[in-house]
Amino acid sequence: MNQQEQLYQILDKIVPSKELHAKWLNSLSMMENTGARKISHYEHPVFTNITVLKHAAEEARHAYFLKKQIEKLSPENCPDYSFEYLLAPIESYQYLQKLDIATCGYLKKGIGLQDRELMHGAYLLVTYSIEVRADMIYGIYQEILTKYASKVNVKSIIAEEEGHLAEMQKMLEQFSPQWKSLSEYICRMENKLFGTWISAINKELMYN
Ligand SMILES: [Fe+2]
Ligand SMILES: [Fe+2]
Repeated sequence: MNQQEQLYQILDKIVPSKELHAKWLNSLSMMENTGARKISHYEHPVFTNITVLKHAAEEARHAYFLKKQIEKLSPENCPDYSFEYLLAPIESYQYLQKLDIATCGYLKKGIGLQDRELMHGAYLLVTYSIEVRADMIYGIYQEILTKYASKVNVKSIIAEEEGHLAEMQKMLEQFSPQWKSLSEYICRMENKLFGTWISAINKELMYN
């Protein structure tokens, strides 16, 4: 089974259950918020352009928007990002952190980047690989939401993530003539982490 099919099967179990669905939304919200916080950390106090500002604002909005969707399922569910309110909490927390650490390590040791250039390269490459993944996750998720006529919908997120992917590609082209091979390498690392995350969720569902 490929990753798309695996994700489809998992979401096909999650969405019909209010409790699991709330935890799924909360887990995505936590990961979007982690992304937003990472962008804020990356932002230069002076040399920050409108694209980065827009990106930071939209990722923070995704975290809030997903959290708000939980109210449509059960208002008292998932008040914060404690382990008990998340799916595969450890893997969900580690996903972006591990990708960030591995990318920084690669750019530092493999390419010799330092300081601001290292931060910039990591921001572009991590974001690029996450946007490719977001496209897949939200696309399949929306398909299942429509299938079950759910009150939840993520169409506005899909539109913004598509914009981010195009912006990241443009910035990567300016960053390095080798941007394609660099991003392929990072996407392969992301692919492994995604595999770990999705397997952990799958395992958890077996006990539900
Ligand atoms: Fe997002
Ligand atoms: Fe994004």
